[in-house]
Amino acid sequence: MKALCWTGINKVSIETVDDPKILNAHDAIVKVTTTVTCGSDLHLLGGYVPGMRAGDILGHEFMGEIVEIGSAVTTRKVGDRVVVCSFMSCGHCSYCKAGKTSLCDNSNLHPGLGEGLWGASTGGCFGYSQITGGFAGSHADYVRVPFVDTGAFLVPDGVTDEQAVFASDAVPTGWMGADLGGVQPGDTVAVWGAGGVGQMAARASMLLGAEKVIVIDRFPERLAQVQQFIGAETLDYSATDVMAELRERTGGRGPDVAIEAVGMEAHSDRVDYVYDKVKTMLKLETDRPTALREAILAARKGGSVFVLGVYGGFVDKFPLGAVMNKALTVRSGQQFGHRYIPMLLERIAAGEISTDHLATHVMPLADAPRGYDMFKAKTDGCVRAVFRP
Ligand SMILES: NC(=O)c1ccc[n+]([C@@H]2O[C@H](COP(=O)([O-])OP(=O)(O)OC[C@H]3O[C@@H](n4cnc5c(N)ncnc54)[C@H](O)[C@@H]3O)[C@@H](O)[C@H]2O)c1
Ligand SMILES: [Zn+2]
Ligand SMILES: [Zn+2]
Repeated sequence: MKALCWTGINKVSIETVDDPKILNAHDAIVKVTTTVTCGSDLHLLGGYVPGMRAGDILGHEFMGEIVEIGSAVTTRKVGDRVVVCSFMSCGHCSYCKAGKTSLCDNSNLHPGLGEGLWGASTGGCFGYSQITGGFAGSHADYVRVPFVDTGAFLVPDGVTDEQAVFASDAVPTGWMGADLGGVQPGDTVAVWGAGGVGQMAARASMLLGAEKVIVIDRFPERLAQVQQFIGAETLDYSATDVMAELRERTGGRGPDVAIEAVGMEAHSDRVDYVYDKVKTMLKLETDRPTALREAILAARKGGSVFVLGVYGGFVDKFPLGAVMNKALTVRSGQQFGHRYIPMLLERIAAGEISTDHLATHVMPLADAPRGYDMFKAKTDGCVRAVFRP
């Protein structure tokens, strides 16, 4: 089969690889119909996530048709049209039972890497380096789906591929930021980043009753999407003093909930960006937390900060004094999609959450290298590149 492989820093190519096979009784093979890029892939592409090997197949947000099942699969069958959660859940360990499914103790084949770096590993994830298990990704004709009973969700009739595919990752990730960030009816929420994840966090905040939601970015086409499809306010950080503007729009207090949906490759015109850039180049820091610092400083006293953006290692100049003295609650996590996806598919079907507008560029898998170039450089208004094997 054909697959999009990582071949070195900022290099990908379409390769011919072996078809996946059923390895365990709970596996299924899914024929991929739609698979999409994610901001998380950019961190892999740039070599910021440890454990990438040349030849690794990229892709973790996808949907398709089940074409083969293992002997122990009970709830899914050949022919099912499913969207698959990017993280894997065994369904039986203490974390999976508690709904904290990306922390699954049984799905990561290489837990030693995470244990060394973070003290414990995450669960398995498709196409996301050895550190999440070394599983083949979804930018391919076929993909092996471990634990298919827990991880693959039936797509409601009438929901298109371009709508459903985002239920794999961007939509539940955004929902988790708003839900576990503690958004309450009447709250003011600020979201850093107007990519797929930030937009979905903003929409979730509104559906959870936030009175005012402000999304911060610098790309006009993304901010226009926020206004048109999410219904939130926008703030262009390249043209405005974010801290002053947020105070102005929140009665001088700052947002109740600050959601960071940018991650380790944040951009800024501020001096701390230059500092991070130099330190990461010298390998004295691993991640660039510009947006995270701003979210912590902007949050109101007693407010909460939810870090959806992916971080890999160690950051400098972390404003711990603001966290401590303002009594902030800071939470984070890889998405716990399994607890949200069925509800979110219903909301997508009901028209409460628009997702297909994120699919700005739809192309055959053969064009995926071009799609990655556009997504990385954010050219031609690319918000997400969608591939159809
Ligand atoms: N927690 C999870 O489970 C999970 C799941 C999916 C993605 N993510 C992470 O969420 C983040 C966003 O993903 P995405 O797909 O939306 O990515 P994306 O690259 O499409 O969007 C990121 C956006 O952040 C903006 N940005 C950069 N610096 C900024 C700043 N200083 N202030 C405000 N905005 C800034 C960029 O302009 C861009 O529009 C990534 O770090 C990704 O790895 C986490
Ligand atoms: Zn993702
Ligand atoms: Zn588990």
